[in-house]
Amino acid sequence: MAKTIQAIRGMNDCLPTESGKWQQVEAGIRQVVASYGYQEIRTPIVESTDLFKRSIGEVTDIVEKEMYTFADRNGDSLTLRPEGTASAVRAGNEHGLIYNQQQRLWYMGPMFRHERPQKGRYRQFHQFGVETYGLASADIDAEVILLSARLWKLFGISDHVTLQINSLGSNEARQNYKDALVAYLKQHESQLDEDSLRRLESNPLRVLDSKNPQVQALVSDAPSLLEYLDDDSKAHFALLCELLDNAGVAYEINPRLVRGLDYYNRTVFEWVTESLGAQGTVCAGGRYDGLVEQLGGKPAPGVGFALGMERLVLLLDTLEKIEQNQPAADIYVTALGDDTRGYASQVAESLRDSDSQFRVMLHCGGGNLKKQLKRADKVGASVALLIGSEEMAAHQVTLKPLRGNGEQVNVALSELPAALHNVLSV
Ligand code: HAM
Repeated sequence: MAKTIQAIRGMNDCLPTESGKWQQVEAGIRQVVASYGYQEIRTPIVESTDLFKRSIGEVTDIVEKEMYTFADRNGDSLTLRPEGTASAVRAGNEHGLIYNQQQRLWYMGPMFRHERPQKGRYRQFHQFGVETYGLASADIDAEVILLSARLWKLFGISDHVTLQINSLGSNEARQNYKDALVAYLKQHESQLDEDSLRRLESNPLRVLDSKNPQVQALVSDAPSLLEYLDDDSKAHFALLCELLDNAGVAYEINPRLVRGLDYYNRTVFEWVTESLGAQGTVCAGGRYDGLVEQLGGKPAPGVGFALGMERLVLLLDTLEKIEQNQPAADIYVTALGDDTRGYASQVAESLRDSDSQFRVMLHCGGGNLKKQLKRADKVGASVALLIGSEEMAAHQVTLKPLRGNGEQVNVALSELPAALHNVLSV
């Protein structure tokens, strides 16, 4: 037998038993973004490698270790997108959507990072994200947070996620803070692990992110970012907090929240849950006022976030907040005898004409009654329509309820939609 080929590690199939859950989540997201006036943008999955190097930052885990980068047949270096923000800015600059304008955009689709796969962390995963441009004040920071909060409300999980916020301040304030942090960490260098020592040289703020308990303890006594904020950033952060308070959105200020991508300034935030184990960040984002210019556009502010769809589906499933998949069809149309196939197909089509909500499956491939009813049961149908030559001659069907103890009855074609509504609503 030929050897079977398997999916790439960390890249998952979404099977029919799961896809209905994804559709429910996607429909909820579409409903919420529309209610805030956001418009969809779709960008390619493959971009120039430089785009991600210049935006996410050369000294980040994503760019250093996780990108799927390859040379195409012309020798150009291309990368499967690891996130959506850089592409949105690239497209916005390229098509003149950003300069002198205001935009509220959203996207949904696959992203790729070569991380070690585990529950909630995959190599191909999906993000839903929003990106806004041309809006400098904290009311838009609050709006994107409220938009995400509305999703939790819609899905009934508000009690299971908490919001952490922080401000990284201006570039200058962050540089001053960096100097103070480095000075502090150098005093305690012997307590740093190898990873933190490396970060201390290349990207010191990321030491704040360390998962090592010993480093965490050290960091908890380090100078706080918030003490170094410039006055404008302080006022921006105060307004954000005020707007969140007004809207009744609870938050924790986490001065050690720095995020793993370099483009942020001022507001950063994460929604985290304790119900998913180690990969508890469901949604994360912030402000990135320098990125548009950094990628060659005229300066314009940006704010956005991205939500990990696998993590959200997993969370909803764990908390039993999502409907399990419905059977593929409610009504199974049999065709008993080869000469009834045309009539059975007509019956099925006329039912679909009469009510688009009817989910009708037509038996294909012949076989006796027992075999056809077995299929009806397998697909989870509630009703079988038995169609033989007698039914065909009389323009009727025999309606057989498959669940409960309803009686089998003959029904004229003209009465069939009403009869099915009756049976299916019981
Ligand atoms: P990020 O924190 O890298 O930010 O990713 C956002 C979310 O995507 C994470 O919180 C997580 O839920 C999900 N995610 C990330 N990596 C994986 C993975 N390997 N497997 C499963 N889920 C994952 C960004 O990507 C920024 N572009 C967010 C943003 C938009 N900031 C401003 N605008």
